Amino acid sequence: MQTTDYPFEPYIHEKLSEDDMMRRSKDYLDKMRRRRSIRTFSTEEVPLPIIQNIIETAASAPSGANKQPWTFCVVRDPDIKRKIRSAAEKEERMSYDHRMSDDWLEDLKPFGTNWEKPFLEIAPYLIVVFKKSYDLIEGKKYKNYYVNESVGIACGMLIAAIHNAGLVTLTHTPSPMRFLEEILGRPENERAYLLLPVGLPAERVKVPKLEKKTLNQVFKLF
Ligand SMILES: Cc1cc2nc3c(=O)[nH]c(=O)nc-3n(C[C@H](O)[C@H](O)[C@H](O)COP(=O)(O)O)c2cc1C
Repeated sequence: MQTTDYPFEPYIHEKLSEDDMMRRSKDYLDKMRRRRSIRTFSTEEVPLPIIQNIIETAASAPSGANKQPWTFCVVRDPDIKRKIRSAAEKEERMSYDHRMSDDWLEDLKPFGTNWEKPFLEIAPYLIVVFKKSYDLIEGKKYKNYYVNESVGIACGMLIAAIHNAGLVTLTHTPSPMRFLEEILGRPENERAYLLLPVGLPAERVKVPKLEKKTLNQVFKLF
């Protein structure tokens, strides 16, 4: 039932048989289970239009009142990547040496990570996602809603689209991330949310052997 004078349009729904739904949901599960966070990249180039398709996928995400409170900055310039690596490593060094708790450092041991982040220069692209808690139009502030939820959902779709395109990424959160706003000259209403190196994995790369929770552990039926 339409309760507004604003325009509506027909929704085009692709109706699937139960068999097709089962097959497609299982295929997608198998595909997504093969996604892993990668920390060692190849320098092999990736065409920019592929990255643009991935970003358009993320930007199609739902958002509070359709405010789309995000900007996806794509960095391929080696000088800017070098600046980002240097600033990120400065923060990460402080974090590993002083800011992280003993429990946190213990929890990170299985991943073998440290303050060094060579992938920030090696991966052909860095996608830096910014969230906008308000829009800034001609100096006036317009509030956005459910910004963290909206940008988180868009990032999930971004990561799925990267994997679907045969590329790999790492969800990276060098903390604090203010340096990204400075290096990329973002306006005052944008805050860095995630930093994702994107490209192809280094040859014979290994990943930590991890277990995901089983369906029984994460699913409750009422
Ligand atoms: C919000 C978030 C922040 C993360 N930050 C980092 C990070 O700064 N550095 C890193 O090496 N991995 C980071 N990770 C990656 C996680 O360690 C990884 O997703 C987790 O170990 C599961 O591995 P998988 O992605 O291969 O399934 C982050 C993941 C998430 C979701």
